Amino acid sequence: MNWETVADYAALSQRAAAILLAGIRRDPRLVLGLPTGRTPIGMYERVVAECAREYHCFRDVTTFNLDEYVGIPREHPGSYYTFMRQHLFDHIDIDAVNAHFPDGPAYEGQIAAAGGLGLTFLGLGGNGHIAFNEPGTPFTARTHVVALSEHTRAANASLFPDGRVPTHAITMGIATILESREIVLLAAGASKRAAIERLRSGEVTEEFPASALWKHPSVRVILSECGA
Ligand code: GLP
Repeated sequence: MNWETVADYAALSQRAAAILLAGIRRDPRLVLGLPTGRTPIGMYERVVAECAREYHCFRDVTTFNLDEYVGIPREHPGSYYTFMRQHLFDHIDIDAVNAHFPDGPAYEGQIAAAGGLGLTFLGLGGNGHIAFNEPGTPFTARTHVVALSEHTRAANASLFPDGRVPTHAITMGIATILESREIVLLAAGASKRAAIERLRSGEVTEEFPASALWKHPSVRVILSECGA
């Protein structure tokens, strides 16, 4: 695992955007795994700004989001579909048919048909979850529906001002994520410090989902002390 600590959230966003765009320049047909949450917002802002200057950034790129809520319509303001449109897809030249969200076990086949994930960005839950793989998820899990922990529902409640935070989500599994050729984990701020320390300890356990990343040959962790 390659660890990089940067000065602040702006630097983390800049670094992550540079890695993403370098990936597309290297392979214009790149297959990206993409996260939601507060942490990657700055990365997406910079990618959008950069792509406004470049010609055809995402024209041949395919994306697979890590996860999505279950039981709310796609257009719900709190859905990850809406999040991705607001922060990225509405501002770049991606072909809508190439931007995927998990909707069932067929997701695995769609990822395989696209050639597999090339570069996947991850956020980190305070309890160590990656995507929506909560503590206790087998590392062998593939795309599946999960009941969200109270911890995770509380952390994401701000997107549901009516208080009706979804109880379930569908997520890529840890095995799906580990098949990505490259992985970049982003963690910003004090609320992630304990999880990062636990990850750094090197103990690999299903009780701490992010520790599965130790099993992968090419993971970069980008950290900043200041939060998103
Ligand atoms: C949600 C998402 C995760 C994300 C996590 C951290 O639970 N499903 O993919 O990594 O939140 O979010 P934040 O970046 O807002 O701390």
